[in-house]
Amino acid sequence: MNIKKSKVVIIGAGNVGVSTAFCLVNQGICDEIALIDLNEEKVVGEVLDLTHCMEYMHRNVSVHAGTYDDCKDANIIVITASAPMPKDKNDRLIMLDSSKKIMKSIVGSIMKTGFDGHLIVVSNPVDIMSYYAYKLSGLPANQVIGSGTTLDTARLKCNIAKRIDVDPRSVNALVIGEHGDSEMIPWSTITIGGKDIYSVVHDNEDRIGKHPYDEIKEATIKGGWEIFNRKGNTCYGIAASTVGIIKTILYNENKILPVSTLLNGEYGETDLYISVPTIMDRSGAKEIVELRLNEQEMTEFKASCAHLRSFYKDLDI
Ligand code: 2OP
Repeated sequence: MNIKKSKVVIIGAGNVGVSTAFCLVNQGICDEIALIDLNEEKVVGEVLDLTHCMEYMHRNVSVHAGTYDDCKDANIIVITASAPMPKDKNDRLIMLDSSKKIMKSIVGSIMKTGFDGHLIVVSNPVDIMSYYAYKLSGLPANQVIGSGTTLDTARLKCNIAKRIDVDPRSVNALVIGEHGDSEMIPWSTITIGGKDIYSVVHDNEDRIGKHPYDEIKEATIKGGWEIFNRKGNTCYGIAASTVGIIKTILYNENKILPVSTLLNGEYGETDLYISVPTIMDRSGAKEIVELRLNEQEMTEFKASCAHLRSFYKDLDI
């Protein structure tokens, strides 16, 4: 009996790509991982290193050096390759020109194989790269998903949880919009243990402060740079976020994640990739959740939409 294997191809064996591979191996999410990079020697080294983990993992995952031929029967392809991020610039958008050339080449090679699975785009600037990959691939929008603000959301939960000394997983919160400076936090939707955040702040001013919102937002937006400017990259958080997306697809979880997806009328926007809460299952981005944003929140979210859309003219589609 031919049992369908779950196969993930990771394009880009840099810190993010190999951390994603390790996260997949460590959690035993899929049967097979193929790693692709221009630096073939590095791929061989990473594959050997990952293979040596199996003795201590709870399942044996087949990890091998890949070629684009591996894309044809892949369930999911993760694109992590992007231009190097310049230090101390703190702006993912300056990578656009070089990343779009890389994306055009990679998507072209993928689609030549007849791939018809899910593309997960991680390359920065991720919202614009996701839209570009969607346009270049011709795949249905539900099959092209950007990691978006899934990582920013994890950072926000950590920042809130630290102030009130609870598990970040007890904070029900989202960051939406651009994975970048124009992202926004819909505070009116946040609850902690079922209690709205405004009441939590009101009842715990001694612990949290009277008005912590701006500080928490700043810490969330700058979270990536706090890491990047110290260690020269970020990898574990984005790898875990990406594997969280992979899991919802391979395991058909119906989980809501703030991935970068195509707005087709939702929030009054069309033909735009941006992060909003999205129900994820084996079809990929199944359904967008339209939050009831208040006037100020909607203004902030629309500003993020306009900011991203302003770069579409630079994409040669
Ligand atoms: C991050 O936020 C660099 O986009 C990456 O960690």
